[in-house]
Amino acid sequence: MRNLRIGIIGCAGRGELADFAHHPENGSEIVAGADIYPEARNTFLTRYQDKFKFQPTVYVDYREMIEKEQLDGVIITTPDFLHEEHAVYALNHKIAVYLEKPIAISIEGADRILEAAYRNRTKLVIGHNMRYMSFTRKMKEIIASGTIGDVKAIWCRHFISYGGDAYFRDWHAARKYSNSLLLQKGAHDIDIIHWLAGARTTRVNGMGSLSVYDKLPRRAQGDERLKSGVMSVWSEEHFPAIEQKDFYPEIEVEDINMISMRLANGVMASYEQCHFTPDTCRNYTVIGTKGRLENYGDYSLAGSNIQVWTKRKDAFRLEGDITYRVAPGDGNHGGADPLIIQSFLDAIRGQYNVWSTPQAARYSVATGCLGADSIRQGGACYTVPALPDYLENFDFARAEEKK
Ligand SMILES: NC(=O)c1ccc[n+]([C@@H]2O[C@H](COP(=O)([O-])OP(=O)(O)OC[C@H]3O[C@@H](n4cnc5c(N)ncnc54)[C@H](O)[C@@H]3O)[C@@H](O)[C@H]2O)c1
Repeated sequence: MRNLRIGIIGCAGRGELADFAHHPENGSEIVAGADIYPEARNTFLTRYQDKFKFQPTVYVDYREMIEKEQLDGVIITTPDFLHEEHAVYALNHKIAVYLEKPIAISIEGADRILEAAYRNRTKLVIGHNMRYMSFTRKMKEIIASGTIGDVKAIWCRHFISYGGDAYFRDWHAARKYSNSLLLQKGAHDIDIIHWLAGARTTRVNGMGSLSVYDKLPRRAQGDERLKSGVMSVWSEEHFPAIEQKDFYPEIEVEDINMISMRLANGVMASYEQCHFTPDTCRNYTVIGTKGRLENYGDYSLAGSNIQVWTKRKDAFRLEGDITYRVAPGDGNHGGADPLIIQSFLDAIRGQYNVWSTPQAARYSVATGCLGADSIRQGGACYTVPALPDYLENFDFARAEEKK
């Protein structure tokens, strides 16, 4: 059997993820990459030379790469607003797609991607790597064991110390490129809430604001550059946010987002996100009919303590009745990145262990989009539209079997 031929669109930044698919000795290789920015193509070539002593072919135009390279799969790690264009093109050429989250920046865009995969019977995996993290899997396992009874409420607080460096110095800050940080960041957490609860959101509303970054000094107006594959500088010295400068010319997305959700099975959920905190953590609380769990720490090096309270005590207790200590796995994002890329390669080969679905990715984006609309329109409550049955029930990981 020949090696799987994998290409990448968006070679630098998150494009490093593709390196986990480069195992020429083990059946898969990154043969080519496409990126419109020369800096990004050079970064990619240098990385492959240094790490693998290997030179993939590079393209400026992703369409040329897809037409020439006879790819088995493509990893798409371009900015959010390009996901739909790049994924639909590859799917229409019947090339299996790994697409970074958020699946798209609109509900209609997400649905067009699902439709293209369905119509072409081509595999589609969305980069919801948080489902591959040890602390989220442990929370799922505790819930499934029945220890806290039937889940009734899930609240997630998301503290982001690096928000200024990661999202307000480049394209992420402009609505036309990212829509809202409820997608770029929140799509992960909304998906985890849905997964832990076992149901998707049906109704959502929100409040939020641009509290800090719109008041800070920006780069020259008219500087429309995207990030060009060169990471903006992240530094713990960049604190407090209110004393920083050199932000993107268009600062439009909220730096505080708060949404409330009613799920199809009656679970009540909330998600709160802030981009100028001193610390970083995703903190989930799940309340069931017989107990409550909460994670202290997530997938960073420090790992996570998951506390589970199952006895009543009319006072605050820092420690639960049961404590689970969860260490992160090896590799980026607490070991999730190598695992999710492996599951994409396995899916192409016909072994199906993908732990997330395109439908779930679409519902997290749909919830985030309508949450953002609500924030921008005075807190109105919206109904999240359901997918048509043929898309809802389609198994995208097994798509080719059904041709
Ligand atoms: N799942 C995760 O944990 C995770 C983590 C980080 C980023 N991401 C996702 O990865 C994607 C990329 O994020 P990033 O921060 O690396 O962005 P980025 O701005 O660094 O861009 C990524 C790459 O795309 C290239 N690019 C930009 N425009 C292009 C075009 N028109 N054609 C081809 N290539 C183009 C850039 O040059 C760069 O090499 C985003 O969708 C983001 O949400 C996911």
